[in-house]
Amino acid sequence: MTTYTEFYRRSIDEPDDFWAEQASLIDWEKPFERVRDYGSPPFTRWFVGGLTNLCHNAIDRHLANRADQTALIWVSTETGQEETYSFGDLHAEVQTMAAIILSLGVKRGDRVLIYMPMIPQAVFAMLACARIGAVHSVVFGGFASSSLASRIEDARPTLIISADAGCRAGKVIPYKPLLDEALELVSTRPAKVLIVDRGLAPTPMRAHRDESYISLRQEFLGATVACEWLESSSPSYTLYTSGTTGNPKAVQRDTGGYSVALAASMKHIFCGSPGETFFTTSDIGWVVGHSYIVYGPLIAGMATLLYEGLPTRPDPGIWWRLVEKYKVTTMFSSPTAIRVMKQHENESLFEADLSSLRSLYLAGEPLDVPTGKWINGALRKPIIDNYWQTESGWPILALANGVESADSKFGSPGLPMYGFSVRLIDDQTGEEITVANRKGILIIDGPLPPGCIQTIANDDERFVKTYWSKVRGRYVYSTFDWGVRDEDGYYFILGRADDVINVAGHRLGTREIEETISGHPNVAEVAVVGVADPLKGQVAVAFITVKDRSAVAASEGASTQKHEILKLVELRLGAIARPARVLFVPALPKTRSGKLLRRAIQAIYEGREPGNITTIEDPSVLGAIAESVIPT
Ligand code: PRX
Repeated sequence: MTTYTEFYRRSIDEPDDFWAEQASLIDWEKPFERVRDYGSPPFTRWFVGGLTNLCHNAIDRHLANRADQTALIWVSTETGQEETYSFGDLHAEVQTMAAIILSLGVKRGDRVLIYMPMIPQAVFAMLACARIGAVHSVVFGGFASSSLASRIEDARPTLIISADAGCRAGKVIPYKPLLDEALELVSTRPAKVLIVDRGLAPTPMRAHRDESYISLRQEFLGATVACEWLESSSPSYTLYTSGTTGNPKAVQRDTGGYSVALAASMKHIFCGSPGETFFTTSDIGWVVGHSYIVYGPLIAGMATLLYEGLPTRPDPGIWWRLVEKYKVTTMFSSPTAIRVMKQHENESLFEADLSSLRSLYLAGEPLDVPTGKWINGALRKPIIDNYWQTESGWPILALANGVESADSKFGSPGLPMYGFSVRLIDDQTGEEITVANRKGILIIDGPLPPGCIQTIANDDERFVKTYWSKVRGRYVYSTFDWGVRDEDGYYFILGRADDVINVAGHRLGTREIEETISGHPNVAEVAVVGVADPLKGQVAVAFITVKDRSAVAASEGASTQKHEILKLVELRLGAIARPARVLFVPALPKTRSGKLLRRAIQAIYEGREPGNITTIEDPSVLGAIAESVIPT
């Protein structure tokens, strides 16, 4: 048996042989000519010349052996619905959806924006796009009109697919009005909008633009649409994520590299086999949903469970009952979800029969040791923390138990995964940190392995400038995360080094929130920082200076303005971006050149020393910040 050390070494030292072997995990219509082209670094093309299709690998490939086996299980505890689709059913539904999309004028290479709740039609839509070579861009359903508008503006989709409404905690959240509002804000609009009417909210349709999925489905029932064979480097999708600026970045991914990377991760990291059931509790609007609700499990021939609802409704035992009912073997969730569950700790929480479950994978934010130990003790199953990013598409740090089992260390997402040449560098000198237990920035030597970000859509320059730097002639990719490595080579992640925050495992850009708050007429300046929170990992707090101080002098005025500001964020960006607190302060700490010292604000809020503030223009400002954070 190969040791993981040897497996990893081969992936770094003999990447062509290594990845050519992994490539045999998927189907190729035409074999590739070259494993990798790194002729124009840091851009990388994987499996050059090969023809394949993501949807073929996720569905069609399995029809011969498992057409009748379950592919998709949908459970909505919001509407009380449960549906099961075999690979054969999924094949039919995806072809119908593909025929509808084609009939609405979408061609290969066109973008299709998907703004949908967690319903099967969202999965059909993604797979249908992949089938016909259209590039999907799923926008998280929790985002509101401005966030949606900026993404529509950037993606310039030919078609938008949406629904009448989503549902959260029993409350109907109409999507269509938000979409209509977003479409008013953009300069170029798609000719067509396809609406899946769930019968949850009244949905006025606009003539000539809006089309009904339900009626078109009748028309195209039984349609056959062949897979388009795509060159491996053809984009499969874009997915927006936050960075340091207010403009979201469209992370673009390829077709062949991504299929191979997912197939390999399902085998080596998630240890999944055909016929088993995978349950990922994320949302299709995030990268975890793309890779491990939709594509990864299906590529592996597994059934995937799509869940619409909260982890605590009707009660906190719901997920575990689903594990029992559907014989879930592999579960993937987030530390916040587990912390929420821990709050409801009681004997009945894990009453279900969990014998089918092998492991629980957790990612998206740091897994604190008490939470890790608690869930490990409660489930008596291995808990596998894994670290990655929207950009990587699959785990950068984890344990490859499918290659050789390794012990988990609480607090650590584990070891570098095959293909990722991970190192730590000093943020000041750029020198590599070779000693154990010293903090540095986590970087990855180029080229990145298959499945990772190809570029930022339509902006190669931004891609290179944002992520890459040249160190002694070699390109290195920055994760923007602080990390340390212990004597055994296990890494620990210590948080972001940029202005990205992580609220309940959701990645948010503070700049986008700041820009929205600046839109309030009485706001002069604003700094949004992420501060530690025992439940959500981090929450956003807004520090604001106002133009007219008299308006916030009395507590009544201050609370009205706070309310207005929060409402503004909720309406424009969505409730997910709402700061947990809004604090009015006399001034914000800045450097002499006018740069906001967000880190100093964060440190003060968290009760730490503000660190290196020698460049601060007026140190007395910090005292007022410290006073403002004392709860009133
Ligand atoms: O800061 C790291 C944190 O989440 C960021 C990436 O978020 P996103 O693009 O939404 O992708 C999530 C994919 C799982 C990272 O830069 N992060 C992610 N996983 C972990 C983590 N921090 C600590 N431990 C993790 N396991």
